[in-house]
Amino acid sequence: MAKKKVILSGMRPTGKLHLGHLVGALENWVALQGEYQNYHLIADYHALTTDQRTENIYKNSIDMLVDWLAAGLDPKQSPMFRQSQIKQHTELHLIFSMLVTTARLERNPTLKEQVRDLEMENVAYGHLGYPVLQAADILLYKGDVVPVGEDQLPHIEITREIARRFNTLYKPVFPEPEGKITKFARLPGLDGKRMSKSVGNTILLSGSQDAITKKMRTAVTDPQKLRKGDKGRPDICLVFAYHNKFNPAEVPEIRAGCESGALGCLDCKMNCAKHIVDALAPNREKRAYYEQHPEEVTDILADGEQRALKVAQQTMSEVHSAMGIG
Ligand code: TRP
Repeated sequence: MAKKKVILSGMRPTGKLHLGHLVGALENWVALQGEYQNYHLIADYHALTTDQRTENIYKNSIDMLVDWLAAGLDPKQSPMFRQSQIKQHTELHLIFSMLVTTARLERNPTLKEQVRDLEMENVAYGHLGYPVLQAADILLYKGDVVPVGEDQLPHIEITREIARRFNTLYKPVFPEPEGKITKFARLPGLDGKRMSKSVGNTILLSGSQDAITKKMRTAVTDPQKLRKGDKGRPDICLVFAYHNKFNPAEVPEIRAGCESGALGCLDCKMNCAKHIVDALAPNREKRAYYEQHPEEVTDILADGEQRALKVAQQTMSEVHSAMGIG
């Protein structure tokens, strides 16, 4: 039997996950599980690049793990683990940091965006090295495919460059991983801008039916459509984008109703909320189970960390032997 290709992906534990995480990444992780060997990492060290306070990191990590499990990741197939608990990440990060220039890292558009958004005056050494740690995350498990949001593609490119450099300088140990983005990589936030927790324009995966409906009410629609009867432009409306994703069957009817004016925005939003609530039903059920069995969640993490460690140790022994050290 041919060896399965490896998927490695992860997220920073910065709080509860929202629809953007589900549609932009998580759904892909779940869909590819089985065809690939998946590994999923909780990037708790990466979380320190933008916020050095640690008091919520453990709780956020567990909350995120529950979000992952509720989305359908299967802990038997796919080890899930914290980056901080597998020391090989930091070791490989150090080795890789010799194989990339600071000029290359300064050109990273994701970093530039963060510096601008967070109005940072100075960048920490570790923040500059964010993609180097991410390369270690991916290559420690010899990830072939990395399903992520669009903003992460520059980091995958740096990972490929580092893998190539290592392989030519020493011995071919690493694959050159490919990024994989989802069809709905750009689900907009409820204000029509980029979906982001800090802006509050999201719908949480853990939200109740009531919370989802309330949030959907706040969605911004076509500014030219003020009341039912006014003609709307579905293609500029974020609610329509949500229908495309969560209610594809009714899309032609909704387009026609919006364009003619017969369909009012509030009715359209409530219908959309209902479809999101329905789509999240299996998620809600699994979440309820794990919330009632917290010890199972910590067991899953411990088991994932044990399995990840074995792979990481094996790769590091190949790294040491390729470099002729150790
Ligand atoms: N940088 C990713 C994000 O912010 C999180 C991450 C860390 C990651 N290590 C990774 C993603 C390895 C994919 C692979 O979303």
